[in-house]
Amino acid sequence: MVDIKACIFDLDGVVVDTAKYHYLAWKRLANELGFEFHDNDNERLKGISRLDSLNILLEIGKVTLSINRKEELAVLKNQWYLEYIAKMKPDEILPGVKEFIEELKDSGIKIGLGSASKNAVLILNQLGIVHLFETIVDGTKVTNAKPNPEIFLLAARELNVNPAQSVVFEDAEAGIEAAIRGGFRNVGVGNPKILSKADIVLPNFIGVTKDKFFSLIN
Ligand code: BG6
Ligand code: MG
Repeated sequence: MVDIKACIFDLDGVVVDTAKYHYLAWKRLANELGFEFHDNDNERLKGISRLDSLNILLEIGKVTLSINRKEELAVLKNQWYLEYIAKMKPDEILPGVKEFIEELKDSGIKIGLGSASKNAVLILNQLGIVHLFETIVDGTKVTNAKPNPEIFLLAARELNVNPAQSVVFEDAEAGIEAAIRGGFRNVGVGNPKILSKADIVLPNFIGVTKDKFFSLIN
């Protein structure tokens, strides 16, 4: 019998399609610094913190900078990212995920958000879905970024559930790794080749109901 008390959702790439905006902003920064940043390298930046992402980008461009300069560039990238976010509409919530979360909530399952983003609350407010989450653990609340499990462990603690009774939904390899290290059940959302360590992988949430999900995770 399935004994699931909570579901913890990543934000970027699971609830909303912001990955393309992160990519555009990083690409613009790379171009300003005089190198190209391609789509195939973008996967490495998913799920991890802003500064960790910047370090990978600079490694790709073979650029070495002081920590002060890095902090300035992280602020600049975020300003560009926020320009995209400001134009985002509720139709950019990924198909089926809101209905799925509502169905889980109606059946008494606790819902949390576990995101590396420092913009999570802003994005959820903009999309009008902040009320869906009983707890929101984001990049402003933790010191250790994914693949460290701190984000998900704190969410489970705030929801008063055990990791083994909770399911993490993630689109990033680093996020699935964090869920595994924390002892959570986990669902990869997206490409099964990238998310091969996940318990199960769903291509997206279209047509995913609570019953269908329970039959898969069991
Ligand atoms: C994660 C994204 O959710 O948040 C990463 O997958 C991003 O790509 C990270 O770098 C930090 O986000 P933000 O909004 O704080 O820059
Ligand atoms: Mg993500």
